[in-house]
This record gives sequence, structure tokens and C-alpha cells, in this order.
Amino acid sequence: MRLTLIGFGTVGQSLIKILAIKKNELIKKFGLNPKVVAIVDSKGAAIDEKGIDPFKAIKVKQLKNSISWIEGIGHFGMSAIDVIKNVETDIVIEMTPTNISNGEPGLSHIKTAIFNKRHVITTNKGPLALALPSLMELASYNKVKLRFSGTVGGGTPILNFAKKCLLGDKIISIKGILNGTTNYILTKMHKEELSMEEALKEAQKLGYAEADPSYDIEGIDSACKLVIIANWIMNKRISIKDVKIEGIKKVTLKDVNEAKKRGNAIKLIGELNEEAFVKPMEIPTVNPLCVNGSLNAVSFNTENSGEITIVGKGAGGKETASAIIRDLIDIKFNLLKLYGG
Ligand code: HSE
Repeated sequence: MRLTLIGFGTVGQSLIKILAIKKNELIKKFGLNPKVVAIVDSKGAAIDEKGIDPFKAIKVKQLKNSISWIEGIGHFGMSAIDVIKNVETDIVIEMTPTNISNGEPGLSHIKTAIFNKRHVITTNKGPLALALPSLMELASYNKVKLRFSGTVGGGTPILNFAKKCLLGDKIISIKGILNGTTNYILTKMHKEELSMEEALKEAQKLGYAEADPSYDIEGIDSACKLVIIANWIMNKRISIKDVKIEGIKKVTLKDVNEAKKRGNAIKLIGELNEEAFVKPMEIPTVNPLCVNGSLNAVSFNTENSGEITIVGKGAGGKETASAIIRDLIDIKFNLLKLYGG
């Protein structure tokens, strides 16, 4: 299985490292033997149909800031679109940062890959929040798979859980903490009385925040995830403009402390029922949703099984890389028709 990686930051580097370390296990357990034939970053590309050495790629990227410096196989200035069109590959893994204004450049990467009959795995929320229904149709028309489990919950299989484990039950509503950065910030304000600015700096250092952290703070990242859940899980054809969004900017230490006195904590909650909204809400600290640090938690209110909550790490390089590997296995199994879908 030939892979092309678009974007080579924390997630991309974690991905090729895990693929290399787990090579034998992935072959033995899943018959999955991926070969990275191309990597693209903002300055250029590296291409090798025999497979790019993962450790050399990481070293060059970290030392010289671009994959194009790899001797013999580096191409300065080569664009992702050129690589997607011209390098023979089975799956394009799109990991460029989220842009919510127009979804670019991720949206064009995904569309080009689909038009060229490549399966797509993406961790980029922008294109999905703006155009998930049409991208799903485009993929189905071109008979390729589009997978994105890393976009919601990072390594925590929130989408897969709802799609596969809750089969046969009806999900009535969904409510959850969908953003690790704001949860980290609100937890630090609650437990250590840290200011929002200081806590955000820490979250950025730990690699949780978006390239543009206002996406986290203003609730946009949570709203993107809500849109993805709505389309993929609940068959609601909505986009980000249908979500009422309020971020945590106005939450003060005083608000947090007052909530604390009442046995509550302020959390940035995304909710999907007849409406879709994101806003800071006070919830009891004993509620299963009230998780701390960068954790995400989502409660599914189901018709027959009642409320089910899934909790786990919602951000981070190797966590998101783990979601990509899950998608790779899912595509492989789908192609082998080991299960429907
Ligand atoms: N910035 C996001 C978060 C990253 O904090 O949850 C994972 O989507």
C-alpha cells in the first residue's frame, strides 16, 4: 500500500515513526505493509517509489526544516497538487493545518486526490467542516474511501465508537468536550488559578493548540468537530455556519471560582440535538463529562442504552497518528470486503 503524506509536522512525523516501529506487527496482524512513497511540506517534496527512509526523513526535517533537503529524492518548490497528481500512490494522507475561511489548501488536496482515484485520510477539520456532504458524495462517485477519524477526539475513537459500536441503537443527542486546548486551559484556571494566557502558552508548548489558537479559544475547533459528528454519525447535513458558537474568551477566573464553589466546573461544551451549538457551560464535577487536562469526553444519549460516555486524549502527535493507522486498517479491510461500509 503506497502512501503520500501531505504535511510533515508533529502528526506526520509521529505517523512514519510508528509505522516503522510497528512494521512487523502491522504486517502480521492486519496484512498491512504501507510504504511512504512521497512526503510534501510547505517548501517542497521528497519522492521515492522504493519507499522513503522514515528516520532519515524525520532527521532532515528537524535539522533543515524541509523534507526537500533529502539528497537524491528532494524536490524544492514542488507542490502538493503536483505530487498528488503525478506520483503513483494508493492513499493520500492530508495533514495540513485547519483553515476555516475556505478550507484551503487541504480542500484542494483532498478533491485532487479523489479525482485522481486516491483514497484519502485526513486530520484536517477545515475541508470537512465546510464541505463534508459534498466530499462524501465525491468520494463515493469516484469509488474511493474518505476517512477522518483523527479529526474528532485525536486517538480516542469517538467517530468509530458511535458509527460501529452503537449500530442498531438510535443516537438522540450528543454532548461533549471536543477541544483539548480549552479543556487544558479551563482545568488550569480551575485547579491552579492560572490565567487564560499562561495556560494557553502551556497548551501550545505541549502541541495541543491549532496553528491558529483562536480556533481553539473561540470554539471554532469544537464546532468543526460537531459538524463532522453531525454528518458522519447523525446523518445531519449541516456545515459550520449552522452551529451557534461561543468560545471561552469571556470566561474569567472569577467565573471559574464561583462555579467551583457550587461544585461545578466550566467546560466548553459542544451539543447536538435539534440545534447545534458550542458554548461554555457549568457542569457538576461528578458528571462523567467533567474530565480534566487535555482530555475529551463525549456522551451519547441513545434510545435504548441510555447515556454512554467515551473519554480519552483528544490531541497530540502520536495519538492522532494512531487514528490515521486505524483509518489505514479500515480502508484495507473495506477493500478486502472484510466488512461492509
Ligand atoms: N487543537 C485541537 C484540540 C487539536 O486542542 O483539541 C486536536 O483536534
